[in-house]
Amino acid sequence: MPAFRLSFRALLLLSVLVLAYAIPKPDDEEAVADDALHTPLDHDSDGEKHFEGEHHNKQYDHEAFLGEDEAKTFDQLPPEESKRRLGLIVDRIDEDKDGFVTLSELKRWIEYTQRRYIDEDVGRMWKIHNPYNNDTISWEAYRDNVYGFLDTMSQEEIENDEHNLSFKRLVKRDRRRWGVADKDLDDKLTREEFTAFLHPEDHPTMKDIVLTETIEDIDSDGDGKINVDEYIADMYRNSEPNDEEPEWVKSEREGFAKFRDTNGDGYMDREEVRTWIVPKDFDHAESEAKHLVFEADTDEDEKLTKEEILEKYDVFVGSQATDFGEALARHDEF
Ligand SMILES: *[C@@H]1O[C@H](CO)[C@@H](O)[C@H](O)[C@H]1NC(C)=O
Ligand SMILES: *[C@@H]1O[C@H](CO)[C@@H](O)[C@H](O)[C@H]1NC(C)=O
Repeated sequence: MPAFRLSFRALLLLSVLVLAYAIPKPDDEEAVADDALHTPLDHDSDGEKHFEGEHHNKQYDHEAFLGEDEAKTFDQLPPEESKRRLGLIVDRIDEDKDGFVTLSELKRWIEYTQRRYIDEDVGRMWKIHNPYNNDTISWEAYRDNVYGFLDTMSQEEIENDEHNLSFKRLVKRDRRRWGVADKDLDDKLTREEFTAFLHPEDHPTMKDIVLTETIEDIDSDGDGKINVDEYIADMYRNSEPNDEEPEWVKSEREGFAKFRDTNGDGYMDREEVRTWIVPKDFDHAESEAKHLVFEADTDEDEKLTKEEILEKYDVFVGSQATDFGEALARHDEF
């Protein structure tokens, strides 16, 4: 599972990579919605956020369990059909065919869906950006492919259009990330290096750049550290300046002081952000597997039968609560 939240930022980047489509302005509803939803594909700390507080995100479970692409497919299916398919998946997860899905079988399955998603995603991107299937992709070829349109514009056109400006910032960011992913320093990326570039969250060598990018994204006043307002703004924006904040936002504020700003100086510095987004010894697949067992294990024997899973099918694959607007409206129920 790509550990990044499908944040405004990530969406932005993905969209740029694929479509170069217009960037939603930060005050667009969609962008706000996306931030507010704060899906746990965030900052490499997905699992942690996922389990933070009472907020629980079903879409996240679905993606962990099915893989991101599959989850979307399942979202379109009528309940009966998704139950039928879920049954088939359960048979596959139960590797030793003893009729029970154990924690470790579930964990291996989740790891498998993560790998599959990343492999397929990188495969798609590799084709798009490297149509002749060279051994490597050069930065120039990549840049021309994704951002070449900027070259056809005058400086003025770029400066006067905030979308174009965002693209310019993205070029810089991509360039820097490219450099970190490029292990052998030839400025070209092999498929393996390209995987690190596209999915840095899974690469130990990319942790620092992920950290840097995260801080830059949230640190709107540019002082290199994150204050509580910046922290909150990353997940929630008032639609009206004077609206009262919902309860969950208030508790996030308290959480900042209690858990994030551990040295109590009013800011999250780089090390505190690191602890937040790259928690040590956190095994995402394992905690997700535990969570799913907890949700579905009706007889509390710490393993799941097919019946138990189908009974709670919406936790695993159901389309309910995956409707974006509705999910948002019910944010405080997660
Ligand atoms: C692949 O190789 C050709 C020929 O050397 C080159 O023109 C092209 O830019 C390369 N493609 C990428 C994506 O690097
Ligand atoms: C960049 O700016 C130009 C001129 O304002 C505009 O026509 C164009 O649509 C913008 N491009 C993007 C991708 O936003």
